[in-house]
Amino acid sequence: MPGMPPEFPETPDLPDTETPETTNPVPPRREFLKNAALFTGTVALLGGGLEVLTRRPGALAEGEPGELLAQARRPLGPYDTSEAVTPYAQATTYNNFYEFGTGKDDPARLAGSLRTRPWTVIIDGEVKKPVKVDIDTLQSWFPLEDRIYRMRCVEGWSMVMPWLGFPLAALLRRVEPNSHAKYVKFTALDDPKQFPGQRSSVLDWPYVEGLRLDEALHPLTFMAVGLQGRVLPNQNGAPLRLVVPWKYGFKSIKSVVRITLTREQPKTTWALAAPDEYGFYANVNPAVPHPRWSQATERRIGELRRRPTLPFNGYAEQVAHLYKGMDLRRFF
Ligand code: MTE
Repeated sequence: MPGMPPEFPETPDLPDTETPETTNPVPPRREFLKNAALFTGTVALLGGGLEVLTRRPGALAEGEPGELLAQARRPLGPYDTSEAVTPYAQATTYNNFYEFGTGKDDPARLAGSLRTRPWTVIIDGEVKKPVKVDIDTLQSWFPLEDRIYRMRCVEGWSMVMPWLGFPLAALLRRVEPNSHAKYVKFTALDDPKQFPGQRSSVLDWPYVEGLRLDEALHPLTFMAVGLQGRVLPNQNGAPLRLVVPWKYGFKSIKSVVRITLTREQPKTTWALAAPDEYGFYANVNPAVPHPRWSQATERRIGELRRRPTLPFNGYAEQVAHLYKGMDLRRFF
């Protein structure tokens, strides 16, 4: 709200009973189907499976047996982290989604008011083939992939999330950016009838985020439509959300209705609300403290001790080249 310093709320510790050290990853259903077809007992696949089983000893304790079997057989992809997946129950009840309110439990409590069908997405701006498309048609354009990514919130907590979706690059190539396209602007739904939090002016609505075009085209940059093999829950950004794993979580905008290619750097919600605290780039950087707290460590949801935060959230090898020559303290 104007005049008041916008800030993320405190992040209270979750009760330990809900945060077992060994988690029970439920695998993507689609991956199960794919792997069921692929499962020919090859050494490579078995090797991958054994790795998963030994890495996640608790995996057989809970969940649907078929799915867990598939998880055991699922080889990790080149973009996946092997770290333990955050339990679904926590990933879907401890959320930031200010359109529903500023409390961590507001999104799960109130997300029933969001209608995700029908849902139209516009892709326009500096492109040769602008399009206005229904979400189900949009989804049908791309084979769904799954990616197990770390997510680091600017508040100092983190999760490991198995997303289901498609690379943003695939969508952008389809609409053919023209030579003026330099940035990509993302806009979330603006509808106070469905989003009770939008009746308060805690942020300027709609929620807007942005990326440089080369960041948007990076193979890690993902549009998610599912989580842990299920349709994306409303509280996690249904029906379509951005996922940029090397940036603080606020860049990963939920419930996207418009993607606009632009010449100029878009003005983004948190950078407008508190420019000294939240930059456009927002690359995870343990060396640059937030003005009000350190970013050197993080609390992985489900763990008791804080762990060190890694530059670019552990994706430096894949993305550091995008920022060559840039002062990452100035461009934070
Ligand atoms: N997208 C919208 N539209 N509104 C929001 O308030 N919060 C962001 C991001 N995307 C937010 C959003 C923040 S601060 C974080 S940390 C992540 O969503 C949280 O994602 P999760 O709830 O799925 O873990």
